Amino acid sequence: MREHKLFKGKSLAILSGGGDTPAINSSIEAVRNRASMLGFKVYGVRQGWRGLLGDGDIVDLTGQTYNGLYGGTALRSSRTNPFPSKKNTEDRVPQVLKNLQRYKIDVLVTIGGDDTNGAAKRLYEREGIPVIGFPKTIDNDLRTKTWHTFGDKTIDAVICPGFPTAAKSIAEFAARLKTTAESHSRIMVMEVMGRDAGWLTGAGVFGSGDICLVPEVEMTKQRKDFFLECVKETYLRNTKKTLIIPVSEGVRWYNDESGMCEVVNASNELDEYGHARLGGISGLIAGEISSKLKIDARSQITGYYPRGGTCSEYDRRLTQTLADKVVDLLLREQYGQMPVLNRVCTYQELEEFNCSSIDMGAIGNRSLPEEYFDANTFRFTPMYVDFLSRIIGKPCYETFDYDFPVVVPED
Ligand code: F6P
Repeated sequence: MREHKLFKGKSLAILSGGGDTPAINSSIEAVRNRASMLGFKVYGVRQGWRGLLGDGDIVDLTGQTYNGLYGGTALRSSRTNPFPSKKNTEDRVPQVLKNLQRYKIDVLVTIGGDDTNGAAKRLYEREGIPVIGFPKTIDNDLRTKTWHTFGDKTIDAVICPGFPTAAKSIAEFAARLKTTAESHSRIMVMEVMGRDAGWLTGAGVFGSGDICLVPEVEMTKQRKDFFLECVKETYLRNTKKTLIIPVSEGVRWYNDESGMCEVVNASNELDEYGHARLGGISGLIAGEISSKLKIDARSQITGYYPRGGTCSEYDRRLTQTLADKVVDLLLREQYGQMPVLNRVCTYQELEEFNCSSIDMGAIGNRSLPEEYFDANTFRFTPMYVDFLSRIIGKPCYETFDYDFPVVVPED
């Protein structure tokens, strides 16, 4: 890119909020590099919105060595909400405004999900702060309006930086569970993060996962009974008597005692955006499979595994492509916008012409489209497989089929 000095004397600050992903450093580096080329001095706000409270916690990123492939976020993160919430009733917006002024920050780029970017949008609308959002979440549940065509169907899907790397990790995790499950003729109930959306759970299928459960399909009593029948039938049909069942952490599962469909929380304490911490549903499901079907079942929480590690090649190019669009937004002074991909595409098709921007107010939450999951069979559909194949490649796991002849003693 040619060096512009259009924004000489101006400064741009980047912050990352919410759960980390392996693609945040890549996003920071890509935005930093492009903003520097435009002539901005580039700052990093540490610990999300918290870094704009009190005296501020700001670092200078201009000209600094940066490793965008390294996972996590070098700016660190928090779930601090500048606006009053149930958890924190104090209005912190005046502190944010004061620090933006003290540090002479002209433009703020907020890397985050719905919570972080929702707060940024409110600052833009209420206080006129020039903000640009940047998508981020392994949950992949932001409404990015990224169209996906499969056969004669076109639906609005999502690709958020962080999800491609996390999906690869989940596929690998399932592939590893497969060999140990086979050795013990076990069922493995594999729990996957994703909050109220099942996008990431489907990646388990790319590593040998079979029937799955997602938060979008409530597991009522009838559904649960049918699911248990399917589990038994699929397990018995399998020559190695094994089964990997990816389940989303946010699955609503019928509780035989309360007669209600409930999620399982790891902690009931709410964060500043009102979310409880999910976790533990896989233990409940494995327990019921063992007790009701008399089949050995174990639970495995994949937890933070997909959030860690190095940024994948797809995520790397995706963040760079979206950062190219940030340049466009800066040049046009189009604030309150977030760059998004127009179409679900392969690595080779990640180009700026496949990008546009959406109003940050329209981000909201995008659950898994019904075209991607068949609630009658508990299976991800060929359309989902097409979606994820374009991002991480075809399902791939090793198999070793053996049917050794049984030896009978000669007597
Ligand atoms: O939103 C990203 C996410 O990883 C969710 O999938 C998960 O429920 C949550 O964050 C966990 O948050 P924390 O890091 O606060 O435990």
